[in-house]
Amino acid sequence: FRVEWQAERSLKGAFDDYMLKEIHEQPEALGRLLEPLRGPGAPGRAPLGRGARNGSRTLPNGRGTSEAQVAGLRWLPELPTNVDEVWFVACGTAYHAARLAASYTDELADLPSRAELASEFRYGQPRVGPRSLVVVISQSGETADTLGALREAQRLGAPTVAVVNVEGSTIGREADQVLPLRAGDEIAVASTKAFTAQVVAGLLLALRLGQARGVLRPERSGGILEGLRLLPEQVAAMLAVQEARMQELATRWRDRRDLFFIGRGRDLAVAMEGQLKLKEISYLHAEALAGGELKHGTLSLITEGVPVVGLATQPDLAVKMAGNLQETRSRGAEVLVVVGPEAEGVTELAFMSVVLPQGVDPLLRPVLAVVPLQLLAYAVAKGRGLDVDKPRNLAKSVTVE
Ligand code: G6P
Repeated sequence: FRVEWQAERSLKGAFDDYMLKEIHEQPEALGRLLEPLRGPGAPGRAPLGRGARNGSRTLPNGRGTSEAQVAGLRWLPELPTNVDEVWFVACGTAYHAARLAASYTDELADLPSRAELASEFRYGQPRVGPRSLVVVISQSGETADTLGALREAQRLGAPTVAVVNVEGSTIGREADQVLPLRAGDEIAVASTKAFTAQVVAGLLLALRLGQARGVLRPERSGGILEGLRLLPEQVAAMLAVQEARMQELATRWRDRRDLFFIGRGRDLAVAMEGQLKLKEISYLHAEALAGGELKHGTLSLITEGVPVVGLATQPDLAVKMAGNLQETRSRGAEVLVVVGPEAEGVTELAFMSVVLPQGVDPLLRPVLAVVPLQLLAYAVAKGRGLDVDKPRNLAKSVTVE
């Protein structure tokens, strides 16, 4: 027992829990995924994009200049260009990444794109075929519903891509193409570093597809690639600044009954992920909703002192979100906002605010915006004295239906 305990402790390093360790590993994990973009000579570069079913293989191009990557992105899986639509299919946290990924292919590859829950896809008679690209996202690569959805897509003749963290997993082996996340082992049930890696992987696939289809301007892709190169350090800075602040907020909020997470567009996906993290491990009731839906029901639950997390990182939606947050404030809500630099005005409404750094492309902002929410969920659960890594009733990998 003693040996086991010591081994466990050394695996966690300086951290109390795997979840906290994995939250802090995000800069490193993203750095690994983005290694081919961040210049030559980075250690430990491994082949990416192995196609299991058709045996195709793509290797990192090993070049470091932005021109080379804009021209190439050849280290990513080769994607079929003769498709009319893209479906992203996943469960849980991976589904939230799928929603973001769909927004990326929609915008950058100019293809109608949607995210679907694997369990709904599988039994919902999906109308996909040879001209539908189906991308399944799964940390473990073993989730029963996601695997079932992949097989259903293949049965219907759709080309498939898997985004997985566990490379030798069933989903990774069965898909036509695979993009490994390289986030490293994720042990805590609540997914953190796999999520941010999945979001970035979705963005990379969108860039690759947009470029292959010839619909992406080099200045646009060059700007995003430049932003991706800076992202790991920005995540590290976010962790350094927000950990103590989220701890402070958690102390205040840890015994509240209900918490609400509100966002629009990409921020809705982040809100959904924030509420899932919180309820998975803290056992508090949390709910995410689209800003525009607030007045269609949930506003009746917003009263004096109710915690609200408002996300307003997308410049085109910031004014609308400010209006929604004002509606909660005027009913006495305590508001934490996560906003882009141009929406600083929104912070006046807030009890506490996190302002994202200047110059970050709106497409990359979800990766930074989710970090304080992960820290908040962790601190609330810890403050409640709970087993953060192994929440009751939940499993890391759901291989049965
Ligand atoms: C379980 C885990 C979640 C995870 C989901 C999908 O419910 O507890 O954290 O998001 O499965 O898992 P996958 O391995 O397919 O990403």
